[in-house]
Amino acid sequence: MNERLSKFTNYLIEQNQDFAYIHSPSNVYYLTNFHCEPHERLLGLFVVPNQEPFLVCPGMEVSQARDAGWKYDIIGYSDSEQPFDFIYEALKQRGVHKPTRASIEKGMLVYERAEELQARYPELSYHSAELGLNQLRLIKDEKEIEVLREAAALADFGVETGVKALREGVTEMEVLATIEFELKKKGIREMSFSTMVLFGEKSGQPHGNPGERQLRKGDLVLFDLGVVLNGYCSDITRTVAFGEVNDKQKEIYETVLSAQTESLNISKPGTRLGDIDLAARNVISNAGYGEHFPHRIGHGIGIEVHEYPSMSEKNDDLLQVGMTYTIEPGIYLSDVGGVRIEDDVLVTETGYETLTKYPKDLQIIK
Ligand code: GLY
Ligand code: MN
Ligand code: MN
Repeated sequence: MNERLSKFTNYLIEQNQDFAYIHSPSNVYYLTNFHCEPHERLLGLFVVPNQEPFLVCPGMEVSQARDAGWKYDIIGYSDSEQPFDFIYEALKQRGVHKPTRASIEKGMLVYERAEELQARYPELSYHSAELGLNQLRLIKDEKEIEVLREAAALADFGVETGVKALREGVTEMEVLATIEFELKKKGIREMSFSTMVLFGEKSGQPHGNPGERQLRKGDLVLFDLGVVLNGYCSDITRTVAFGEVNDKQKEIYETVLSAQTESLNISKPGTRLGDIDLAARNVISNAGYGEHFPHRIGHGIGIEVHEYPSMSEKNDDLLQVGMTYTIEPGIYLSDVGGVRIEDDVLVTETGYETLTKYPKDLQIIK
């Protein structure tokens, strides 16, 4: 059994669980190395203490699970079959007859599937599998860090490509298409979320939608993008100025950059997560823009672009070596536009390393 699965099994034993049903593609990937996008179909990894685990997936995906190295049983089902009937039998074969305690991903399991379980096991009560899995996924190993580093370098390349594509009159969507085309040529099949390229006043919306807005002199340009590489995500934001920059734009840029620097400077083992948020928030509030920074400082990053932990001011957990997360303060003004600067950060023994490395001094693109 691989080390991750064996640690998770130990967790289930400690929690006195009869079995775990892991169903999110990200946690199945983490525990099995099998990446599957089942859409609405059922995907399940069943872990039973002191028994062999088994996978359940659409029949057409079975060979991919084998190719990913899964050595235990796989139940492949067709679109006309009910997988819960097979699951019931497979659990019974492993001595699970009348379970009373099961771990599921409470934040993810759809209600219909909970009903299928409840219909077969009326005595079942549910424990959150995320409590154990989030702790395991929190600290990245050397191999994960290597992939995250490469994914971050490709995000840097995406920004570089976007900056080179800026010309007066070009649209947000044209620049976005250029970025993704160049990344696809490097083998990237999937972005980690919908790429954002926002010009001028549109950069004043933290999560605006790129469209037909044409680039004009004096616009701030905000890029927010990331790639998925070997199942791991990157996420970078850079803001540049096109043509010229006025005092207000310069002021908000420099404020966001100082805020990000403050948060980075305290990134080291033992720092309270909430203090990372507060360090940036204080800089932005002291400059008079507190109400224009409407989101937390960042989020964990790994197999999912937003994963545990949430980097909010209320989080009392402490940074540990091997954690990866984003630091992304922003100021958004509906008329002037917005600035956000985001890096992916790794906690090291002595402090931190930013995995994304695209330059951050204000660039004025002529
Ligand atoms: N693009 C979403 C984020 O940066 O969190
Ligand atoms: Mn982002
Ligand atoms: Mn982010």
